[in-house]
Amino acid sequence: MTVAPAVTASRGPLLGAGVVLAVPVSPGRRPQVGAGAEALKSLKVDAAAFLRAEKAVGKAGEVVAIPLHRDGVESVLLVGVGDGSEAALRRAAAAAGRRAKGARSLATTLAADRDASAVRAIAEAIGLASYKFVFGDAEPPKLRRVKLIVDHPAEVRGELARAAAVVAAVHLARDLGNMPSLEKTPVWMADRAKVVAETAGLKARVRTNRQLVEQGFGGIVAVGQGSERPPRLVELTWAPPGARRHVVLVGKGITFDSGGLSIKPADSMPAMKTDMAGGAAVIAAMSALGALEVAVKVTALVPLAENMPGGAAVRPGDVITHYGGITSEVLNTDAEGRLVLADALAYAVSELGPDVVVDIATLTGAATVGLGKRHGALYATTEELRDELMAAAAAGGERLWPMPLEEDYRDALESPIADLRNIGHPGKAYSGGSITAALFLREFVGRTPWAHLDVAGPARADGDEGEVTKGATGFGVRTFLRWLEAMA
Ligand code: BES
Ligand code: MN
Ligand code: ZN
Repeated sequence: MTVAPAVTASRGPLLGAGVVLAVPVSPGRRPQVGAGAEALKSLKVDAAAFLRAEKAVGKAGEVVAIPLHRDGVESVLLVGVGDGSEAALRRAAAAAGRRAKGARSLATTLAADRDASAVRAIAEAIGLASYKFVFGDAEPPKLRRVKLIVDHPAEVRGELARAAAVVAAVHLARDLGNMPSLEKTPVWMADRAKVVAETAGLKARVRTNRQLVEQGFGGIVAVGQGSERPPRLVELTWAPPGARRHVVLVGKGITFDSGGLSIKPADSMPAMKTDMAGGAAVIAAMSALGALEVAVKVTALVPLAENMPGGAAVRPGDVITHYGGITSEVLNTDAEGRLVLADALAYAVSELGPDVVVDIATLTGAATVGLGKRHGALYATTEELRDELMAAAAAGGERLWPMPLEEDYRDALESPIADLRNIGHPGKAYSGGSITAALFLREFVGRTPWAHLDVAGPARADGDEGEVTKGATGFGVRTFLRWLEAMA
């Protein structure tokens, strides 16, 4: 488990506050160093000359690194801040954090003259970009302390504490996603959730396979039965006194997706250790509710199963019964995410009485075809919920894009022997696989306002970029936390 660097604020001076110093550079024909220019002068660094030599333009996230090894300073980073918007500051701060990963400490004037909201964004970005998955006896990242030079340190302390809570949560989600599936079984995930519950003041309940069978969670049982490692259903509850709304978050927790008997091609499989990213995002978000003083009741449901083609595996053509009685004809065992989510959604609306339900899942490769890998696909049954989640994502530094719950494709889910097929009928919805998956899920939420995030693209990154690090990204944690923070 990686520990994020501690981010604190002070009035300065910049010099002496860290071994790596990062200062902002604004764009222009001749890009200019902003706050911190005096420190460079006293270090005898001719910033303008370096910017000219490197043909710097000051765009957000551009870094000109000057090695120094003088007066306790190892290097100076001239960091482009673009238009100075929060999104640009996130890119700039992430670039500084990433470059400083190998040093003990970083001090920066990127946050000087910025409002508290921007200071939070900068603190989050540095923490997120400096993440490293520490596996086995690998070295943890060296960066331990980050000092933000600001005008009024006392006024940003609250925002820094919030940033720290968010960063720790995203790091947790990434750690869970990056863990190889040999160790990451459904039971292992459930155990991690219990630890989170204990430290974060949540109630935890974990249903065993036997309880899932007895209580009618036929989707989770069916997906889990091809594996030697049995499924689980995690239920975590945050119930602050006086809460007037109840939110249920549901996260897909497939600890490995081989496809089952409808087995995946070899090249598609390695990435499937992160097929529990939705579940990780939900557990991680729960870990931060106390620190963020979230005032609404939140229940997390994470159906956990390993989708494997063992001798007891569910077969193409089998019909299964979900929690609450709706039946599915399993025509493709690789469309397993919707089968486990269906049970959790049905249970949520019939037993928990929520005001709103949101699920998050690495559900379909199709979601990445149109949208690419940077955006999550957002579906919602009410405009209000869609707008709230869009705003929360933007505030938190994540990218969602709205998608249609297109009624015309609904008949692609008709089955002659069950209530639903688990994949769209090829003749009726040849494409639009992310939409038909969303329509399948919608069948289980009744009249409760519901949103669905298909994060097959952004849950995983092919490389480091901005605040995101290669591998599991923790996508969704920031959106959920901003959304819940904003709720009264
Ligand atoms: N976990 C996959 C979706 C996925 C694909 C996530 C690529 C991340 C990257 C999901 O369980 C799946 O296999 N979906 C199928 C659905 C199909 C069988 C209808 C898919 O996308 O091919
Ligand atoms: Mn699958
Ligand atoms: Zn899957």
